[in-house]
Amino acid sequence: MPLTFDDLLQRARALPRGGRRAILGIAGSPGAGKSTLAEHLVRELNGNGEPWVAHVPMDGFHLADAELERLGRRDRKGAPDTFDAAGYADLLRRLREETDDDTVYAPGFERVLEQPIAGMIPIPPTARLIVTEGNYLLLDTGAWARVLPRLDEVWFCELPEPERIQRLVARHEQFGKSHEEAVAWVRRSDERNAELVATTRARADLVVPQSALPRVEA
Ligand SMILES: Nc1ncnc2c1ncn2[C@@H]1O[C@H](COP(=O)(O)OP(=O)(O)O)[C@@H](O)[C@H]1O
Ligand SMILES: [Mg+2]
Repeated sequence: MPLTFDDLLQRARALPRGGRRAILGIAGSPGAGKSTLAEHLVRELNGNGEPWVAHVPMDGFHLADAELERLGRRDRKGAPDTFDAAGYADLLRRLREETDDDTVYAPGFERVLEQPIAGMIPIPPTARLIVTEGNYLLLDTGAWARVLPRLDEVWFCELPEPERIQRLVARHEQFGKSHEEAVAWVRRSDERNAELVATTRARADLVVPQSALPRVEA
């Protein structure tokens, strides 16, 4: 039997053991469906009750455009060195250690502005499962190497090439790029990053099959 979305729900639900908080990572190439999968998992697991699952996107750790400009990396936005990897790894450490006291805040990412926003995502002490997702969770270079040891389990999300690229272009268009700009950006930037992400696939605990991805209306 191929794995289903319900199987993923079961597997995620079982991660926090003995009342301890667990962190589930979802890695994968740009456009593979990581954020969508995370959103669906979190929504289904929380249901209508008291929320116990939180969604923390790696995208909140994008460096601001002003800083990318200063570093001369604005045209490579989305590459591994255009994120605050150390900040992300440290947030994961805090989410593991600071489970009793105050709300921990994670930054979010605003897709129209394409800028990170601090203090956007509250993680209350009652959160028992954190679903964190992004391109570079399985990278073993620089500060990225501190991410994997702080995750209880990592799933790898993938989608056949033509469809992934099509969705990526459509998403760029949806957030304000012209078709030409979107295609150029995907070719020049996203695809280089996708190749790097693909090399990290073997470090995942589970490769999510197509059969288990949530059904989303086009
Ligand atoms: N299971 C799915 N079925 C149909 N469309 C999807 C599905 N998952 C994602 N998409 C669409 O594909 C695009 C990329 O998905 P997203 O979750 O943003 O990818 P990622 O976070 O990996 O970059 C989005 O526009 C999203 O709506
Ligand atoms: Mg995403």
